[in-house]
Amino acid sequence: MNIRPARVSDVPGIHELVGTFAENKLMIRRTMAELYESIQEFCVAVDDDNHVVGCAALHVFWEDLSEIRCLAVAEPLQGHGLGRGLVDWCWDRARQLDVTSVFALTNSVQFFTRCGYHPIDKSELPQGIWSECVRCPAFPECKESALIRVHEPTGRLSRAESRYAAAPV
Ligand SMILES: CC(C)(COP(=O)(O)OP(=O)(O)OC[C@H]1O[C@@H](n2cnc3c(N)ncnc32)[C@H](O)[C@@H]1OP(=O)(O)O)[C@@H](O)C(=O)NCCC(=O)NCCS
Repeated sequence: MNIRPARVSDVPGIHELVGTFAENKLMIRRTMAELYESIQEFCVAVDDDNHVVGCAALHVFWEDLSEIRCLAVAEPLQGHGLGRGLVDWCWDRARQLDVTSVFALTNSVQFFTRCGYHPIDKSELPQGIWSECVRCPAFPECKESALIRVHEPTGRLSRAESRYAAAPV
């Protein structure tokens, strides 16, 4: 299995995977057009035949806030670390973009806790993030919880920064 940035050729696979969970009201269904338009937000887990077996997207709201969306792992492959790999990919992408926090709205609280996220009160999130909720199959009776991971600069140099700081010019 390999986790990599998504390509347009992955869109049919992402559409099918998300669709299977949308059928069971676990996720918001995405149209092919929406997936093409947002493909740069996605990563995918693929098998040896390049078939999509997992996906996730990082959607940026503001300089300090982003969301993990469309997280799914094909059922036969769940429980083998792919979900964590996709969530970590989104975190790394947020760090590359200098976005300091990533949140998720989810029923999979224990999974996200295992991935380093901590629960927060939904009221702590800004109003602007709720626009997609009307599309959720559970709307308006939302049972999802909010979890967040925040980058907290320590003020100390990271190992890489220390190495470069020590290097002679
Ligand atoms: C949620 C989901 C992405 C998890 O993917 P996964 O590949 O099965 O998860 P992983 O194997 O990477 O699990 C990582 C850790 O979370 C734990 N975990 C995973 N699912 C869990 C669950 N339902 N309850 C408790 N712990 C769980 C694993 O035991 C593992 O723990 P570890 O730290 O001891 O290794 C997957 O179950 C899924 O696609 N669900 C359906 C779609 C869905 O609900 N998407 C919405 C999520 S916002």
